[in-house]
Amino acid sequence: MSVHPLDPLSVQEIETAVALVREQDDINTPFFSSVGLLETEKSVVKAHQPGDGAVRVVQFRGVDEARDGGFQADVDLSTKQVDVKRVSLASQVPYSFSDFELAVRLTKTNAEWLAAARARGVAVDTEADLKRIQIDPWPGGGYPHPDVPQGHRAMRCIAFVRDDATDNGYAHPIDGLIAHVDITARTVACVEDFGRRPMPPEPGRFDGPNLPPARPGLQPLEIEQPQGTSFEVDGYRVRWQGYDFRVGIHPVHGLVLHQLSLNGRPLLYRAALSDMVVPYGDSDPMHSWKHVLDASEVCLGNFINSLKLGCDCLGEIHYFDINLINHQGKVRTVEHAICMHEEDYGIQWKHFDALSRTGEVRRSRRLVISAIFTIGNYDYGFFWYLYLDGTIQMEVKLTGIVGVSAKAQVVNAGQSPQIAQNLTSPVHQHLFCFRLDWELDGGANQLFENNIEVLPISDDNPHGTQFQNVATHLTREQDAKRNVAPERNRSWKVVNPESRNGLGLPVAYKLLPQGVPTLFASADSPTSKRAAFARHNLWATPYARDEIAASGANTVMHSGGGLPAYTADNRDISHCDLVMWHTIGVTHVPRPEDWPVMPVEYCGFHLIPVGFFDRNPTLDLPGHCT
Ligand code: CO
Repeated sequence: MSVHPLDPLSVQEIETAVALVREQDDINTPFFSSVGLLETEKSVVKAHQPGDGAVRVVQFRGVDEARDGGFQADVDLSTKQVDVKRVSLASQVPYSFSDFELAVRLTKTNAEWLAAARARGVAVDTEADLKRIQIDPWPGGGYPHPDVPQGHRAMRCIAFVRDDATDNGYAHPIDGLIAHVDITARTVACVEDFGRRPMPPEPGRFDGPNLPPARPGLQPLEIEQPQGTSFEVDGYRVRWQGYDFRVGIHPVHGLVLHQLSLNGRPLLYRAALSDMVVPYGDSDPMHSWKHVLDASEVCLGNFINSLKLGCDCLGEIHYFDINLINHQGKVRTVEHAICMHEEDYGIQWKHFDALSRTGEVRRSRRLVISAIFTIGNYDYGFFWYLYLDGTIQMEVKLTGIVGVSAKAQVVNAGQSPQIAQNLTSPVHQHLFCFRLDWELDGGANQLFENNIEVLPISDDNPHGTQFQNVATHLTREQDAKRNVAPERNRSWKVVNPESRNGLGLPVAYKLLPQGVPTLFASADSPTSKRAAFARHNLWATPYARDEIAASGANTVMHSGGGLPAYTADNRDISHCDLVMWHTIGVTHVPRPEDWPVMPVEYCGFHLIPVGFFDRNPTLDLPGHCT
């Protein structure tokens, strides 16, 4: 079977590329942060025909013995050429597992840190004691500690105690203590001690044997497709009900959909997360600096789960496996990493005619393509849903364990509400920026904003009841930095002016946003500069191959990049190969129900056809129920 230019990397491709990197003179003893496919130029991919050879470039990032920001190595598998770029200290490659391991080891062996833990009554004297200590290393960028020289690769380590291997350590924070680790100098630069805080009394376990007895009354609910599924899979290419697309994985962006078309008409060349940030709003010095860029700083893709049938996914499932590497360059295959299946979704349309006492109803169904990533205490599910009526939905599912503070008394419930005995949880946001590379019906696209305008009272509008939809063409990058406005029913529309529907109108797809706030952090703050994408719900740019990173390619210790830099020249977007960036999110005010593990919270957006079809495209659905 021939390889498509966008197929995820095979084991053999990665192994060949790792060997070539090891031969490079300018990389010494590499520790790898990530491996991924460097996607071939769009025009080449589009021209690709089955059976053609494909250009395959493997991109690695990592650190080695050099005390700089790391390396990027692009390995062309056909020419065996390796292009090595050294990365500056000002914007470093993502953290790798070797950085995490080093930070944990340095903290657990630091005399000052151990003394501070001991002073809190935490046992740290034997090997067994230290095994029960859970160290969470956090990125050190944005708010560097003065004891860490500028530009050094830094991490902040916070700690917890587990009763045993499967305990929930977050129930027992070693609070008020931070170890500032200088990864570059391989040392703990400073131990910050904000004073002893009481260990919360209650366990927070939710591992199997420690859960309450299972509730009665839930009868089996089985999903069966006795005649098989309705989708066809060819490698990583999927066809379902007119949709045709490719499934991919990116080390930073996670789950990627490529070349998505419907009934042979292109919609999106590429759709995926670009970056995300989790800024905290609490004044507590244990949390006030937190604003991890969970995608770009640690490589979200490295944390993809292996999914279990009947648990993570229900029904007739097709799984895709994904190949990653560990920090030593060894291939790590994650089986069942991406899950795909069909779901019944209630009714698609219905009408009951009261006069004739007859009616028609059809059922809706959706194709689900999903993956789940666990980063530290949080778990993020990314779910693409394709519907029979042309609707495309992204839903992020947030679960896992909230950040915690040990508090004898609640000091400021507005910044850190109580969630359990002597335990509070700081307010924070989760903001996700999705990059949507459009090719609606092929050719150039335009971007419009729709707002409802309420008409003033006049002779024609005597009761002030009238309103109208007003469409504004966004023609420049600066004009396309927009926020949601539910009070104006705001939405954004991608139009192909050259492609007309049966009514003679240009075809379009509309982005329906949810009513969510943008980043609360001040525009002058390091958080806001480093995660500038989150200042607006919408950005738009003309396609450029290298512009795929909402906050910049290498964000560790970086002061900010990505979208503000991309849009600095205020380029013309009036009629172009349009890329839309949409930031969505959750502002999380934790509650007792979020403890000890958080029920899923959701955020997302919809893309719906507007004149892409001439009428309801689902009239031809079979009527099983009549
Ligand atoms: Co949260």
